[in-house]
This record gives sequence, structure tokens and C-alpha cells, in this order.
Amino acid sequence: MSTNNPLVAVIMGSQSDWETMKHADETLTQFGVAHECRVISAHRSPALAAEFGSTAEERKLEVIIAAAGGAAHLAGVLAAHTTLPVLGVPMKSDALNGLDSLLATVQMPGGIPVGTLAIGKPGATNAALFAVAILANSRPELRQKLHEFRASQEAKIRATKLI
Ligand code: RP5
Repeated sequence: MSTNNPLVAVIMGSQSDWETMKHADETLTQFGVAHECRVISAHRSPALAAEFGSTAEERKLEVIIAAAGGAAHLAGVLAAHTTLPVLGVPMKSDALNGLDSLLATVQMPGGIPVGTLAIGKPGATNAALFAVAILANSRPELRQKLHEFRASQEAKIRATKLI
């Protein structure tokens, strides 16, 4: 759901992250949350990363999801330029299976928080659900949708019969 007035930004370090981060996009769309998806690299386009983080509040964004792999500094760099909540999603990397991404994203110095989710697809989905939960604090219709989502998840588990 692309829009001119996004509440959530889903930012990723490379187009190669999209295969994973499309799950954040799909989840936000499922909840009807206006959002944008963009590629911005902390290392390959550092000025753009600083500009995006610095202008996010005036653009009325409310949550930033930032995904990167390897030396994954994107979430931290964006968080350094904004007081909006930044949710980091470590990408599964070829070299170290995402452990590098996880540690680079999660080990922020005190004073600049990044809420780090799981490596890969579960992290992408949960970052979107976390963003919805933040937005739901002031939007009862989203809180209701979250309750329905949880109920539907539980109903599927209860209905599962293996033999
Ligand atoms: C990071 O480097 C990106 O977030 C991506 O996960 C990783 C590899 O990027 P590409 O070389 O595939 O563009 O910055």
C-alpha cells in the first residue's frame, strides 16, 4: 500500500533484501496501514540515510522499519537521526547466516535505541506487527484488528489435526 502519507517506512539496505522484506510490506497491507518501501544504504548512500532519518518526523512518519545484512548499520544510523521508534530486521547473510546482521543491528550504544527483531522472514513479519501495535495505541480500529489476528492464529492451531 504505497501512499503519499505513509505512517510506516520500510527501509532496506539493498534491493536484495526485498525477498525477505516483502513480508513486512504484505503484513502492513493486510492491516491497512499506509506505508512506503524504499532502498537506502547506510554505507552506499550515507547522505540519503541521514536525510531520510532527519526528515522522517516532519514527514509525519510514526515508525521506521530498517532491514540490513552483514555490517548492518542502517537501523542504527536512521535511529541516530530521529526520535521515532526504529525497528531493526537483520537479514540472513551468506557468510554468517545472519549472525553478523543480528549483532550489528542489536548492539546499539546506550542512548540510541533500535528494537531488533528476529533474523529474516519472522523478523520482517514481526516488525510489521510491532509497528501495528505501536500505531494501535492511538487507533482503536488497529487494536481490534490485532485481536482478530491473534484469535485467527489461535483458531488455526486449535483446528490442526496431525493424525
Ligand atoms: C547490506 O548488504 C544489504 O542490506 C544487504 O543485506 C547486504 C548485501 O547487499 P547487496 O550486495 O546484495 O546489494 O547493505
